[in-house]
Amino acid sequence: MTALPENLCVGHAVADDEHRALLVLVERLGADLKAGKPAAVIQERAILLHGVAAAHFAGEEQAMARIDLPAADAAAHCADHRRLQGLLEQFIALFDDERRAAGVDSAEAARFLEDWLAIHIRTYDREMAEASARPARRSGQPSSSPG
Ligand SMILES: [Fe+2]
Ligand SMILES: [Fe+2]
Repeated sequence: MTALPENLCVGHAVADDEHRALLVLVERLGADLKAGKPAAVIQERAILLHGVAAAHFAGEEQAMARIDLPAADAAAHCADHRRLQGLLEQFIALFDDERRAAGVDSAEAARFLEDWLAIHIRTYDREMAEASARPARRSGQPSSSPG
């Protein structure tokens, strides 16, 4: 099993497990891109990543309402989720066509996805995990899904 690098851990078991699963999918997609796999294979990988990411993002966004996270920070965090989902949707559409897919810079696309995930976890998700460790505003209970 792929280990989650120390610098991507947010210190919450569920979040870290979900991030590890996302990292595995990003790495597999990146490896297939760099290996020049057929567009249909890449598209299938991207659709799976989009679905798993959507479920993870929905869980985080529900948790945001229960923790002491400023509204502007929560909005920026959600916007970064939407940014990735929008780019993945464009990517999936691009890989519907073998000729257009052949024009994609595979190494750059793989690097973008890996960078996006790492930067998002180290910034938005870590900030959310830190906020969840503070007492909740309404219930007084720490959140169960911090990042
Ligand atoms: Fe997030
Ligand atoms: Fe996350």
